[in-house]
Amino acid sequence: MDLQAQLEELKTKTQNQLKAIKADNANELQELRVKVLGKKGSLTELLKGLKDLSQELRPLVGKQVNEVRDVLTQAFEEQAQLLEAAQIQARLESETLDVTLPGRQIKLGNRHILSQISEEIEDIFLGMGFQIVDGFEVEQDYYNFERMNLPKDHPARDMQDTFYISEDILLRTHTSPVQARTLDKHDFSKGPLKMISPGRVFRRDTDDATHSHQFHQIEGLVVGQNISMGDLKGTLEMISKKMFGEDRSIRLRPSYFPFTEPSVEVDVSCFKCGGKGCNVCKKTGWIEILGAGMVHPSVLEMSGVDSEQYSGFAFGLGQERIAMLRYGINDIRGFYLGDSRFIEQFK
Ligand code: DAH
Repeated sequence: MDLQAQLEELKTKTQNQLKAIKADNANELQELRVKVLGKKGSLTELLKGLKDLSQELRPLVGKQVNEVRDVLTQAFEEQAQLLEAAQIQARLESETLDVTLPGRQIKLGNRHILSQISEEIEDIFLGMGFQIVDGFEVEQDYYNFERMNLPKDHPARDMQDTFYISEDILLRTHTSPVQARTLDKHDFSKGPLKMISPGRVFRRDTDDATHSHQFHQIEGLVVGQNISMGDLKGTLEMISKKMFGEDRSIRLRPSYFPFTEPSVEVDVSCFKCGGKGCNVCKKTGWIEILGAGMVHPSVLEMSGVDSEQYSGFAFGLGQERIAMLRYGINDIRGFYLGDSRFIEQFK
């Protein structure tokens, strides 16, 4: 067979093969394209015969080669489009979409109960014109103890044994050092100081159901002229009602903290039994919620605040304790495990 006839045959054969390719076998098209038009394909093979042709015939056949390549290239193109359309059509016919099915719910997370508690308390105090101050979790011994009236050999330090980074630097044992740091900076010519400071604190405790080596407190401090114990009581009563219900009352019991004088322990009337005595209040009708007192004159003086002219009150509450009381949580470790079954209970 001469070259021209072979070219003609290749063209017709390929066209027929192309038409036979089915939509679900689309890669056959690519294979055929390589076999016929590829670098080492049939057309290239036939081209090699050109050199044996006569001078007159060579340009003619050369032209025919080009025509066959063009025709086939176009045919491949068209067949590819047809196959694609057929595939789409097939999918449209086979896939069904039930638009009446309910949508897939995206699971929303919620804030951790401790974040909720501190935000709730922050909101209450913001409403009363308090500022919210951030303290340092890694604190100097100086602010954590000395400035809170606990000099180096003070026995009350033992109750707050903690993690030391060096001799002078430690993980704070309470949020109280924020008192000293804020007092240092406050400009009393602009008015009284009113602040709260929520945050994490650390103690070398053995973890059990009611103790954790790290937990959360909220410190409160008000210093100004003529601040009295009445202001302390009024403020704490208000916050207790907001946290535990409007019917709550509070009582103050004498206590001791080195940085307050006098110092008190604050109890709220039991929100479960209303004061009659039950298992939550251990039959006493009262639940201890925080420590407080009038700021010790030494604490003021160490910040350069004249204790003759200024006075104040302070309080410190444990966030976990508030949450445990309010929601009847009996194991403090639940707060820190990150178990979503715990967290999701408090939406
Ligand atoms: N810092 C105390 C503690 O961690 C709590 C406390 C008690 C803070 C009385 C105060 C306060 O500001 O007046 O045990």
